[in-house]
Amino acid sequence: MATYKNIPIKKIAISTGGGDAPGLNAVIRAAALSAHTRGWDVYGVLDGFHGILSPEEYPNGGFIPLTRERVSGITHLGGTILGTSNRNNPLKYPMLRPDGTIEEVDRSDEIVRGFRLHHIDALITVGGDGSLAIASVLAQKGLRLISVPKTIDNDLDKTEVTFGFDTAVGFATEALDRLHSTAASHGRVMVVEVMGRYAGWIALHSGVAGSADVILIPEHPYDIHKVIEKIKEREMRGNKFTIVVVAEGASPKGGALTVVEHEAGRAERLGGIGEKVAAEIHAISGKETRVVVLGHLLRGGSPTSFDRLTALRFGAAAIRGLEEGYGGVMVALDPPHVKYVPIEEAMGKMKMVPMDSDIVLTARDLGISFG
Ligand code: F6P
Repeated sequence: MATYKNIPIKKIAISTGGGDAPGLNAVIRAAALSAHTRGWDVYGVLDGFHGILSPEEYPNGGFIPLTRERVSGITHLGGTILGTSNRNNPLKYPMLRPDGTIEEVDRSDEIVRGFRLHHIDALITVGGDGSLAIASVLAQKGLRLISVPKTIDNDLDKTEVTFGFDTAVGFATEALDRLHSTAASHGRVMVVEVMGRYAGWIALHSGVAGSADVILIPEHPYDIHKVIEKIKEREMRGNKFTIVVVAEGASPKGGALTVVEHEAGRAERLGGIGEKVAAEIHAISGKETRVVVLGHLLRGGSPTSFDRLTALRFGAAAIRGLEEGYGGVMVALDPPHVKYVPIEEAMGKMKMVPMDSDIVLTARDLGISFG
């Protein structure tokens, strides 16, 4: 954390990094308008830090002016008008060696130089855990910046919630509502896989709100026989169908994560646990099962009013923070306030679902099984 009190700002940049989340455009709008109100110029960096690392690939040199007109009418739009990337981490940038192998190179100095070259006085970087790690290094190298936390997974520590999560949960809940009637009509087991990476927040919240019968989350490795018990218990009561929500990061007791791929310069990609769970249920119980993977649908669409408001508050708070002289901090929701926490305190620690939390207890009281 650094202090830049009384060091004036004339020009700032905004970048969005990592997987997109509904609400990013609302942050961009709030930050841009708040900056214009103070008489600052605002530029957007395209495609995460790619715009600054490879300006030659863009007709406009990797930056676009975020005028009042450019940020008009974008609050309700999903995605990010700046583009984003969760590949090519600049701290471990994959470069091809002449012998065909890949070397991971730290390109953070180039980013700092790039911003200086464009006379950018401060940066607002919107992103998740990966972006926080990059921001921390850039801040240590003297770049004046404030981070805005973003992820649909809700797994960032030090903030009550991140925008994007509520939209994802709302969509998953609606999907569960829709799946109930078809599952009931056919007497099937419907397995619904949701994103969330190594935390079970989306599965838990949508599973409870959407009346799932079983919720499998990474925080509680499951026993498939307990899932079968639940299906049988429901059948004894005359319910021939069961809805199982499984977080992509869930794993069986003593078992491993289900990973789609590992690629240099990016986090491993999870997915496929829904199919595994469904296959096991069918093999053990003989029940007809179907799998629905909600995947990237959870990241799309218009942000809910809660996410818009959180994102707008974060964007405006980031500008107020810069004006007050903060640097190397992340804005965080600590209801009813938005506060500033040192990036180092926020990064590296994942916020997992506490198995003794009220919402888990509520789920158990409702008869929901965690396997
Ligand atoms: O962090 C957001 C997230 O959507 C995770 O829930 C998911 O594991 C990952 O990103 C998917 O990333 P990609 O867009 O690279 O498939």
